[in-house]
Amino acid sequence: MADLIPTRDTDANVIRDELIAGLTAPQAMASPKYLYDALGSKLFEAICELPEYYPTRTEAAIFTRHGADIAESVGSGVTLIDLGAGNCAKAARLFPLLSPAQYVPIDISADFLHDAVQQLRQRFPQIGMLPLGMDFSATLALPNEVSRSRRLFFYPGSSIGNFHPDEALAFLRRLRAADGELLIGIDLVKDHAVLDAAYDDALGVTAGFNLNLLNHLNRLLGADFKLREWRHRGFFNPALSRIEMHLEARHALTVRWQGGERRFAEGERIHTENSYKYTPESFAALLGEAGYRLAQSWTDEAGWFMVCHARRG
Ligand code: AVJ
Repeated sequence: MADLIPTRDTDANVIRDELIAGLTAPQAMASPKYLYDALGSKLFEAICELPEYYPTRTEAAIFTRHGADIAESVGSGVTLIDLGAGNCAKAARLFPLLSPAQYVPIDISADFLHDAVQQLRQRFPQIGMLPLGMDFSATLALPNEVSRSRRLFFYPGSSIGNFHPDEALAFLRRLRAADGELLIGIDLVKDHAVLDAAYDDALGVTAGFNLNLLNHLNRLLGADFKLREWRHRGFFNPALSRIEMHLEARHALTVRWQGGERRFAEGERIHTENSYKYTPESFAALLGEAGYRLAQSWTDEAGWFMVCHARRG
């Protein structure tokens, strides 16, 4: 993803106001969406290659191992709606198994999407493809060209973990209201040391990914964050069942931007991300509250990650 491109929904002033409100709040925060500028997106790809970051490869192994079962549960000829499609690679791996009638990849970064779809059309000419550049977390207003027949929302990677459980519930309810079944990847609660290491790796790539948010803020706000004055924190908070990422001031400092400033005491933090972890039971309960029922679920041998197929309850 490039810098968030001002559109009708997210114009430059709205972004500024949201960022400044976050930075000046008593507990400073910045939305995790600002982690993904061009460099941040590359750093996230690097994270997925780290030995400590198990979610991506564990989910991929579940799709490989249980692909036939998943295809049987979901059925062929669905309208596959890919939420946060990016380069469309995860969904493309399912095409031979699922033979979707229509593929609707959705991502904020529309240019990226169109390039990826261009290539896929050559490989899978029988699948109708309708790429949509929109922020699906803000709205799910799908154009009429999206078939109403057997919609399947595909939401892999445990991306739903970024939502607070109340927001996750509201989001699932909106998917349910848009008349879709669900194929979703969920990261599970596990040994805390495994979780801690996945978000604070030895090579420091996750630290770089988190710190790079400050580079992005410097560009978006004309701020003067100095990255060397901040330290990455990433750890599991068992009471809230979530990973938290923060940026912590190494010493007392003041950050200035066009029209404002904030002083940070030594050790004071900017909260940059939550990544909620579920148990199979807690996620099934959330699905139930949203009006879904679990059709089938698949996990890896260690029980670290889960893929769920949910139908209307
Ligand atoms: C893209 C939200 C699924 O929470 O594991 C990875 C983002 N942050 N390392 C996650 C992330 C730090 C990732 N998600």
